[in-house]
Amino acid sequence: MSQKILMVCLGNICRSPLAEGILQSKLPKDKFIVDSAGTGEWHVGKQPDSRSIDIASKKGLNIAGQKGRQFSQQDFENFDYIYVMDGSNYKDVMRLAKNEQQKSKVKLLLNELFPGENVDVPDPYFGLQNGFESVYDMIDQACDVIAEKLLKK
Ligand code: 4NP
Repeated sequence: MSQKILMVCLGNICRSPLAEGILQSKLPKDKFIVDSAGTGEWHVGKQPDSRSIDIASKKGLNIAGQKGRQFSQQDFENFDYIYVMDGSNYKDVMRLAKNEQQKSKVKLLLNELFPGENVDVPDPYFGLQNGFESVYDMIDQACDVIAEKLLKK
């Protein structure tokens, strides 16, 4: 059976679509399912932000086919690992968890890279294109660590 990983941010149009595309590109498709969602509902059904599509495309990934969706309670049952981009996403997702087993699935993405430091992937939505470049690089490095761990199991 496939292992399932969910990437979560606020809007599901900037950070988590990148995280979905990046982690997917590092794992074999027959063994892993990677998806993304936002805690907010504003961008449901929308394509990722054009700046995320552009930076992904520059790095050789096509994320233009993704569609925004909102995180739901059901995701705790459907996914084995839930990675959130920042502390605010962490609080929002944890608030929906029903029990300790569900809570234990939720991790801050950059803690894979900087264990225990609780560093956020900054929200690049209101910033400039170079914000997307640095966000891409952070997510990419964290996904290297995650992919290595998952492939070892
Ligand atoms: P994301 O960025 O959480 O990385 O997708 C955002 C996108 C849109 C909004 C906030 C964050 N917004 O407020 O519309």
